[in-house]
Amino acid sequence: MENQSMKWIFTTSHKPAKQQVLKAQHLATKYSGRYISRRHVGKYIDEKGFYFVVEKDMSLSAKWKGGSFFYHPSISKIKMKTYTKTGHDFLIESIAPSSDDKVLDLTMGLGSEALLIANFAKEVIGVEGAFPTYLVVKEGLKNYKYKENWMIKASKKIKIINNNYKNYIRLFKDNSIDIVYCDPMFENPNYKSSSLNPLRRFAVYDLLTQEDINEMVRISKKRVIIKARDIDSIWNRIKVEKKMGSKRSGIIFGVIEKK
Ligand SMILES: C[S@@+](CC[C@H](N)C(=O)[O-])C[C@H]1O[C@@H](n2cnc3c(N)ncnc32)[C@H](O)[C@@H]1O
Repeated sequence: MENQSMKWIFTTSHKPAKQQVLKAQHLATKYSGRYISRRHVGKYIDEKGFYFVVEKDMSLSAKWKGGSFFYHPSISKIKMKTYTKTGHDFLIESIAPSSDDKVLDLTMGLGSEALLIANFAKEVIGVEGAFPTYLVVKEGLKNYKYKENWMIKASKKIKIINNNYKNYIRLFKDNSIDIVYCDPMFENPNYKSSSLNPLRRFAVYDLLTQEDINEMVRISKKRVIIKARDIDSIWNRIKVEKKMGSKRSGIIFGVIEKK
């Protein structure tokens, strides 16, 4: 997936340092894109277009007219704080990762849940279908200046893959990964409180099917967890054994234990 396109434009912030230019050029070569100096970018981008920017701190963002998408650990910090204090978090409790588990996060997005899971697991493979999200998050995980020790360690346990999970899961052998987690875009998004708003522009909106779930169960050793809102129709289309979540948030984690 990574080298599929010639369309990606890589540039820098205004008045870049030499190392920013070198990194933008390197990324353009690596991902079959084009390096364009910042002052000329406008000529190459239309109203709907976007471009990757190597920022002054060497992080990577995606920018478009009126908006940008950049990596940050999002809700993971507050979630870990709450979990440490209360011993309670539906994501961690439903996934129940142990220190020797390999977890497949099929919908990596910002990677904030992957970061939390990685704190408890041996390794997380994060899959993201949208190339801009994949690249910004991949670079972010590598270069972000985390202040928390647990985040530094957890970020090093995550490997990120740019693929559609519907293809990717079908490549795995039976029982080859401990836990599979899938958090597709909600059918009924909560735009007001969502930390995900910046990635909506790029997101893959595939519908999760029972056939996909069967594949996830086939490749998992321990369990499969699906996240969706309680009002989403997904719960009428797929079978899960147990649902966990709070009525207040309306977020449900459906769990299928592997027999
Ligand atoms: C709701 S977000 C996941 C948020 C994530 N759990 C986090 O902590 O940031 C869903 C993400 O999965 C991606 N996605 C949706 N369907 C996909 C598919 N079929 N294959 C790969 N990625 C997919 C979307 O592009 C989006 O970035």
